[in-house]
This record gives sequence, C-alpha cells and structure tokens, in this order.
Amino acid sequence: MENQRGIITLILFLILTKSISSTEFDSSEYEEWEGRSLSSLSSRSEMGGVEEDEREMVQTKGNQFVVRDQPFYVNGFNTYWLMIFAADASTRGKVSEVFKHASSVGMTVCRTWAFNDGQWRALQKSPSVYDEDVFKALDFVVSEAKKYRIRLILSLVNNWEAYGGKAQYVKWGTSAGLNLTSDDDFFSHPTLRSYYKNHVKTVLNRVNTYTNITYKEDPTIFAWELMNEPRCNSDSSGDTLQEWIKEMAFYVKSIDMKHLVEIGLEGFYGPSTPQRVQFNPNQFAQQVGTDFIRNHQVLGVDFASVHIYPDSWISQSIADTHLPFIKSWMEAHIEDAEKYLGMPVVFAEFGVSSKDPGYNSSYRDNLINTVYKTILNSTKTGGSGAGSLVWQLFPDGTDYMDDGYSIVLSKSPSTSSIISLQSTRLALFNSLCSKRCHWSCKKKRMFQKVLYHDEL
Ligand SMILES: *[C@@H]1O[C@H](CO)[C@@H](O)[C@H](O)[C@H]1NC(C)=O
Ligand SMILES: *[C@@H]1O[C@H](CO)[C@@H](O)[C@H](O)[C@H]1NC(C)=O
Ligand SMILES: *[C@@H]1O[C@H](CO)[C@@H](O)[C@H](O)[C@H]1NC(C)=O
Ligand SMILES: *[C@@H]1O[C@H](CO)[C@@H](O)[C@H](O)[C@H]1NC(C)=O
Repeated sequence: MENQRGIITLILFLILTKSISSTEFDSSEYEEWEGRSLSSLSSRSEMGGVEEDEREMVQTKGNQFVVRDQPFYVNGFNTYWLMIFAADASTRGKVSEVFKHASSVGMTVCRTWAFNDGQWRALQKSPSVYDEDVFKALDFVVSEAKKYRIRLILSLVNNWEAYGGKAQYVKWGTSAGLNLTSDDDFFSHPTLRSYYKNHVKTVLNRVNTYTNITYKEDPTIFAWELMNEPRCNSDSSGDTLQEWIKEMAFYVKSIDMKHLVEIGLEGFYGPSTPQRVQFNPNQFAQQVGTDFIRNHQVLGVDFASVHIYPDSWISQSIADTHLPFIKSWMEAHIEDAEKYLGMPVVFAEFGVSSKDPGYNSSYRDNLINTVYKTILNSTKTGGSGAGSLVWQLFPDGTDYMDDGYSIVLSKSPSTSSIISLQSTRLALFNSLCSKRCHWSCKKKRMFQKVLYHDEL
C-alpha cells in the first residue's frame, strides 16, 4: 500500500512539474506575444469567452484566481464612497463616471464600502435597522458595476471611525446597556459579534432592486471583505482577532458558499512568524494584534490582502527609499502566499498622498510602476501575486472628497497610460492561458486538489 501510494504520488508530482513548467511563460515567448497582441487586446471581445464569463463567479485554483478555467489577474482600484454618492440623485452620476473611466483603462475590479454605520446617510442606522434608500443606492452601485463589467470587493465594516466602524458598534452596545471598555470589544463581545453577523446576513441576502439578483448569487461581486484594516491593539498576541476571523469567515461561508472571502488586513507580520517581522515597516506593526500568515490560514479565507503605505508607516516625506521597501514587502507576501498559504494575494490598497512633503507626480508614477512590475514578475511564472487595487480612483469634480491619494485619470495622462499598460499586460496573461495552456491549467488544478486533500 505504502509503495503504491508512493508511485501514485510520484506520477502526480511529474504531472504537476510538467504542467507548471508549461504554464510558466518564458520571457521571449511573452515578449513576442506582447508585441503582437498589445494593441489588438484592447478590444475585450478578442479575449474570448468574456460575455459568458461575466455570469460566472470568480474562484481560486491553487494560487490563482480563475473564472471557469481562465486565469483572472486583477488590475483594479478603490473608490470607497460609491454608495453614499449613489444615495443622492445629484451625485449618482459620479458612480457611473468612475466605473466608465476605470473600464476605459482596462480595470476590472473595484473595492468599496458596503457599510455606513450610524453616520450621515447611514446604511445601518442602528443594529438591524436599515435605510432602504441607502440600500437601493448600494443596489445601484452593484448594478452599475455589472454594466461596466467591473467586479466588486465589498467590505463589511471599518476598523476606523470613518463611516461608523467598530467604534459605532461599541456605542450601540453601550446604549443597549452593555459594560464595554474598549472599541476592541467589537471583536470579543458576543452581542457586538451578533450585531456584525446580522449586518453580514442582511447584505448577503439582499435582493438587488435594480437586477433582482440576490447579492450572494451575484457574480458581479468578486469577494466579501470581513473588515477594512482590522487591528486589535488591545491583544497583541493576536488571539482575539484570530478568533473573530475564524467565527466570521465561517459565518459568511455558511450563508454564501459561492463567493470568495478575504479579511481586509494590511499584512503585518505578527508573533507566529518572528522570522518574518523584519519585513514589517516598523516595530509597532507587530503589536497591532494582526498576524499575516496565521490569520490567512483560517478556514474559509480564500485569498490574502496586503496594503502598502510607506508614507504612513515609515516616514511622511517622499523618499526614494520607499520604493525598495515596497518591492521587498510585496515579494515577502507573495512568497508566503506560495509557500505557506497556497492562495492568491491581492495588494488591495496602495498609493501616495500629494500632501506629503516633497511629493511630485513622477514619484507617484514610479511608485505605481514599482507595484505593477512586482506583480508582473510574479504573474509571469504563475506565482501568487494576483493583482493590485490602487488607492484611489476619482472622477472629475469630487476634489472635496480627496484625502491626497486620489487619481483623476483625465488630469493624469502619464498615470493613465501606466494603468492602461498594466491592464493590457494582465489581460494578455489571462487570455494566453485560456488559448494556449488550457489543458495544463486543468491538470495543474487536478493535482492541486489531490495535494491539498492529502495535506488536510
Ligand atoms: C465593567 O467591566 C470592567 C472590565 O471588564 C469591570 O472592571 C467593571 O467592574 C465592570 N463594571 C460593571 C458595572 O459591571
Ligand atoms: C424584478 O422582479 C419584479 C417582480 O417579480 C418584476 O416586476 C421586475 O420586472 C423585475 N425586474 C428585473 C430588472 O428583472
Ligand atoms: C520627485 O521626487 C523624487 C523623490 O524625492 C525625486 O527623486 C525626483 O527627482 C523628483 N522629480 C521631480 C521631477 O521633481
Ligand atoms: C522577480 O521575483 C524573484 C522572486 O521573488 C526575485 O528573486 C527577482 O529579483 C525578481 N525580479 C525582478 C526584476 O524584480
């Protein structure tokens, strides 16, 4: 028995190594294809099967995203305020505008807030009490995204106070007579956990009033994000947050088996991996109660998220030294996602503020290029670097919402062409595999199933 098993494993190993090497693009082949195809690929219809694929959920196969059997590498963006803007007829057009601009530079994924707790234009006015008009605004965002062929990562609560966040949940709990002492009680108190779960259940079961599609059935939604940038400073061991992630990832999956789930982490290394903390941007990062590898090993979490903010984590003034940090920060996480997690990793927020001392736009272009090139370097070999989402894309005339990081494409031609080129390159990888290595992708997937099954 042992011997037979060994032989079968060996055969599978051979299939894997063979198929992996045939899905790796050697660079000369890539360049030849790139040269021939860059211009023709700007038309989506040439990528093959796109119409059909829009009705399919994004899934993961090993360390890649796939739609059906075709890889789905991501070039995307954040615009957090879409629901709020959609809630008012006078600003609703901005939602369509940003999707239109993003899609004109080939972006296919947008991350945005599916929460606004207890604040101005709240979605959730108080626990379990929803504003139907704001919910309709979220419906509009989802239906408009579909129209522009953009998939959404919807985040379900904030760590920070903007748009309510965990502090608002704690206020609700205190008003209900609970003895709460810290905003981090959000993670541990059973009543606050039940408030959050109710929000999850309400959003996932929402029937979109524009499309009649239930959110949990809607392939326009790329993934659910448990929380924007969770931190639990009150427990630097990471245990409190770990328990919360376990419970909530499982809860989301219990309602919605179809969609992918990610946590929303910034990516700091924690106590479980002392050998990795050298990659953190500063000493403080390992004490915020998060733990990149351990957190992402939780059952139900499908892909990893990482944010990149050297101007907030290292020093506010612009420095060329931030660029090598970005590269090593990304490569460390890509390596972890390959070696320890077996999942894709998305760099879900990155950018630089124009308010930083020493800022200039060519520095911003350099920074974006650094992120994009690091992704491509992984993509080329079928690695875990699955994509990035710039923070953040704005349409014209929304300057009053700008936190310094906004990119207005019409005002930034050089940035637009960098974004556009990245989209085209990733689209090329996506289509290359479907056209040229369809079978080996299948074989690879088959093997991965067996491999992961054995490891369990
Ligand atoms: C509230 O909780 C704190 C810390 O858990 C405890 O020290 C305090 O006695 C509690 N207060 C009441 C009124 O129960
Ligand atoms: C949604 O369903 C309602 C009631 O069944 C129907 O009247 C309406 O036309 C449907 N709308 C769409 C966009 O399918
Ligand atoms: C922009 O800022 C970077 C980083 O400080 C600097 O190296 C570069 O020379 C600046 N470029 C321009 C055009 O000012
Ligand atoms: C590409 O990635 C590999 C593996 O992470 C790294 O060793 C190499 O330096 C990278 N190359 C470039 C040009 O960034």
